[in-house]
Amino acid sequence: MDNRPIGVFDSGLGGLTAVREMLRILPEEQIVYFGDTGRVPYGGRSPKIITQYSRQDAAFLMSKNVKMVVAACGTASSVAGSLLAKELPVPFTGVLEPTARAAAAATHNGRIGVIATAATIRSGSFQQALQTLNPQLQVFAKSCPLFVPIVESGFSLEHPDITKKVAETYLAPLRAADVDTVILGCTHYPIIKRIIGEVVGEKVRLIDSGRETAVYCRTLLEKDSLLAQGGSGGCSFFVSDRINDFSKVAGFFLREDVHSDVHLVDIDK
Ligand code: SIN
Repeated sequence: MDNRPIGVFDSGLGGLTAVREMLRILPEEQIVYFGDTGRVPYGGRSPKIITQYSRQDAAFLMSKNVKMVVAACGTASSVAGSLLAKELPVPFTGVLEPTARAAAAATHNGRIGVIATAATIRSGSFQQALQTLNPQLQVFAKSCPLFVPIVESGFSLEHPDITKKVAETYLAPLRAADVDTVILGCTHYPIIKRIIGEVVGEKVRLIDSGRETAVYCRTLLEKDSLLAQGGSGGCSFFVSDRINDFSKVAGFFLREDVHSDVHLVDIDK
């Protein structure tokens, strides 16, 4: 048993897709969330910068005495995940392995689409994880750089019709490739899952990286006997900028008022 909090970080809001699920399946756990809203998006940056930011994010969470670090960010997981797993003194997981495993198990025709940020697709991380699980799988990868700013700014809530047009353009090659499963390889994407689902068609299984990662966290905590006991659960949020924008979209997404629990931090300190 361990009642220290779980640390979760993302470049911004996307990691909330993991947090929402963690709050549901791990009701006794306390979560500390850091969203790097001052430097989002990570997905168009170089591996060097993404690694530097990811290390800083993890170090901030360690300063909060967490028992585990979760990179609920496709880009940080793809570029800096292996490094963090080696460097951190507590268990670590990114979104890669749990999400790839769920997709490999879900597909019937062996044709899997991966949508993610440019840095994630360039890293080849999901492609490699899927091929390692099953070399017969055919993987069709597509970067969708506009999705993160559309979600992060709250634009998708106000303009679902324009968001759908963007999705139609991005997802056309995956429709043509006849995939039956699509990995939402960036944790921001489940926030527009309904729109993505309408575009790819209801028969296509969408694998939510946030959800799969939350489920995997539970498995890891159980394995290492780190589950909290008797706690009342909940989440405190830390962001590096735009606290009000974060509170608004996070509140909408988590369906609760989070204003009093959001704090501003200087991540460079
Ligand atoms: C981004 O910051 O560009 C997206 C984060 C992610 O890949 O989940």
